[in-house]
Amino acid sequence: MILVTGGAGFIGANFILDWMTQNNETVVNLDKLTYAGNLASLASLETDARHIFVHGDIGDRALLKSLLTKHRPRAILNFAAESHVDRSIHGPEDFIQTNVVGTFHLLEEVRSYWNGLNATDQADFRFLHVSTDEVYGSLGSSDPAFTEMTAYAPNSPYSASKAASDHMVRAYHHTYGLPVLTTNCSNNYGAYQFPEKLIPLVLMNCMAGKPLPIYGDGSNVRDWLFVGDHCSAIRAVLKAGRVGETYNVGGNNEKTNLQVVHTLCDILDELQPKKHGSYSDQIIFVTDRPGHDRRYAINAQKILNELGWKPAETFETGIRKTVTWYLQHQEWVAQVASGEYRDWLKKHYTDKNYTERTA
Ligand code: NAD
Ligand code: TYD
Repeated sequence: MILVTGGAGFIGANFILDWMTQNNETVVNLDKLTYAGNLASLASLETDARHIFVHGDIGDRALLKSLLTKHRPRAILNFAAESHVDRSIHGPEDFIQTNVVGTFHLLEEVRSYWNGLNATDQADFRFLHVSTDEVYGSLGSSDPAFTEMTAYAPNSPYSASKAASDHMVRAYHHTYGLPVLTTNCSNNYGAYQFPEKLIPLVLMNCMAGKPLPIYGDGSNVRDWLFVGDHCSAIRAVLKAGRVGETYNVGGNNEKTNLQVVHTLCDILDELQPKKHGSYSDQIIFVTDRPGHDRRYAINAQKILNELGWKPAETFETGIRKTVTWYLQHQEWVAQVASGEYRDWLKKHYTDKNYTERTA
């Protein structure tokens, strides 16, 4: 079996759902169920004995020890993290606690477990750490895309905490021989993404008739990858990645934020037209994010050359699937858009002068 951490979050849930369609191997899913964790995303697995959910923290050493002893996983995939840049700006502490300290405790328990395995199981074991392209910092408009050799230069508390965890993972390989793999992926989009991130937030606000807040002038660039493609990349790295290596994962889809939001509005105009005008009439420009990284771009040649991985979706196909999914899953959206989420919107966007100026 495999142990997945953070499997009730956006990418972890997609990974488990995909895994179940392709494997018979059991997944133990350890998740703290923070605001971003949502078991409703895994509702289809409620009666599936191959999914064992454990409510807990990656920093809980006693819990980890007992899980590892009981289930004896052949691999651990670490998705668990605090993952939202804006939240890290408002309050970095949770990011240090989970992404840095939590990953350290996880590595320590995994090291102890791995040391107790026989030589064959030790050689077959993998610890796969799921990370981000944001650790590389920000690119200028004509800079070459990030490669695995690009020096780390994280700019936000989120990316700094992920960079720290990546370094610890690397060190556990070099120092203790733990068979680790790290993936550094660009911005994901798709089903089950919490609506604090750009794409689901815009979709939700479109449907609620609310403003679509664009930070700064909307010309910041991100590389966007459909979440199912990220999951297939992780499976490829787990299966055949070289131990101790890092793999960049990207979609070859650089877009400005304004392009992304206009694409969403155009698809919604077609699939669910408003009575009057376009959804893009709801766009407003708000105060920029402090330290806002200008551009991310991924060179994904290594994973293509070594493992033959490339994305199956283009931005155009993936984004259409995503919009359709959100339109068809309004009950999921309504369920996550309650309680704590409303507090976040109020705190974050009131600070940003939500109604500052319209497009
Ligand atoms: P998410 O915020 O949607 O989910 C994170 C999950 O981790 C949640 O279910 C949460 O409850 C759980 N969690 C948080 N702290 C925990 C703890 N201490 N112990 C156990 N569980 C805990 O994040 P996501 O978008 O699914 O991202 C998953 C991973 O992929 C993260 O490590 C993130 O850095 C990385 N990543 C994300 C993106 C992206 O675009 N979303 C891109 C590249 C890499
Ligand atoms: P986000 O989805 O938070 O991902 P990340 O910061 O990890 O790249 O944001 C994607 C881009 O969209 C980023 O440049 C910030 C911008 N953005 C907005 O313009 N408005 C918003 O309300 C949000 C949440 C993000």
